[in-house]
Amino acid sequence: MSLALPQPQTPAAVREMASARLGGPVRLFRAPGRVNLIGEHTDYNLGFVLPAAIDRYTYAAARPRAGRELRMSSAQFPETFTLSLDRLQPIRGWGNYLAGVADGLQAQGLSLQGADLFVTSEVPHGAGLSSSAALEISTGLALAALSGAPFDPLHLVRAGQHAEHAFAGTQSGVMDQFISTFARAGHALRLDCRNLEWELVALPAGCALVVCNTGVKHELAGSEYNQRRKECEIGVDLLRRDRPEIASLRDVTLAELNAHQSELTPVVFRRCRHIVTENQRVQDAVRAFHEGNFARLHRLFAASHASMRDDYEISCRELDLMVAAAEAAPGFLAGRMTGGGFGGCTVNLVRPNLVDSFRSATAQAYAQASGLEAEIIATPAAAGCEELR
Ligand code: GLA
Repeated sequence: MSLALPQPQTPAAVREMASARLGGPVRLFRAPGRVNLIGEHTDYNLGFVLPAAIDRYTYAAARPRAGRELRMSSAQFPETFTLSLDRLQPIRGWGNYLAGVADGLQAQGLSLQGADLFVTSEVPHGAGLSSSAALEISTGLALAALSGAPFDPLHLVRAGQHAEHAFAGTQSGVMDQFISTFARAGHALRLDCRNLEWELVALPAGCALVVCNTGVKHELAGSEYNQRRKECEIGVDLLRRDRPEIASLRDVTLAELNAHQSELTPVVFRRCRHIVTENQRVQDAVRAFHEGNFARLHRLFAASHASMRDDYEISCRELDLMVAAAEAAPGFLAGRMTGGGFGGCTVNLVRPNLVDSFRSATAQAYAQASGLEAEIIATPAAAGCEELR
């Protein structure tokens, strides 16, 4: 499968294409993909994350239709789907996400209307940039807006998570849907995944965000994800025997975890150690971003990558090679793998005036080491979902 990044489209061009496909004027919505700066696999452990939206979007164009059917087509996939809002259930193919989102919105009390939808995306599929969250949030926003009733953006987040859990079978956390919904231009967002309190973290002028796509996605990603989540739960259950008020790894300190090492299997201990140390790294990184302390960010990103490689075991050869390639490139400030793991992308902070040299040096070194072509995009931190008027 090619993971080539699709070219950005202009909203006007998308509107024109969608109007032609749907046979009349459309309302147009979009939601961005994301890159996580630090805080990996901490979301479902009710800890901290620091994602930012990227300026690659999934667009959902919609027209109301009489009755209770959703009909949808896409510029990227040949399959079209017709769903009844009265009988939503998991289906095969990309329409599953829309079925899940519609079901999630209705389960929260929104009364949805029939619609014709057309979807097109610039967020590469399977590259760890949350193409599925961008699809869920863009289509969820379209359906909620077309219903005409007031709704809370959190309804979209919950509906997207419902699509992942109950329809796609991934027990993912809240990060991807949250950032695709609430992102602000120029900022990352520090989210407390326990109470959903969040704080904007301005990206300092001294760094640019650069995403490097390894071009690989290993098949085990989905099953390994759910496995990691289970291993963390096993850890929590054992630690709770001693201190019942522990609700998640968020409530555990490193000293406490170390004190109980002998009660945990080596694997469960290492999984827990990644989460506990990663939560601390998010807090430290927020401070370092506020201070513009790139030396500290360098150390935190490197420690995060090592922890994912050695303790959480979600990196892979290509990700390690990409991190090494970037580290040696001009302008590099900090870098690590990002997202669920087993392929996909790394995220880098790069000196803005050296982005072009960084790009070519990293691509060349990665190609030499891996035999693969890297796809490298510099992206501003973008804004979250919106209707385009
Ligand atoms: C995927 C999931 C998120 C999060 C990341 C890892 O993107 O959808 O909820 O767990 O992996 O940080």
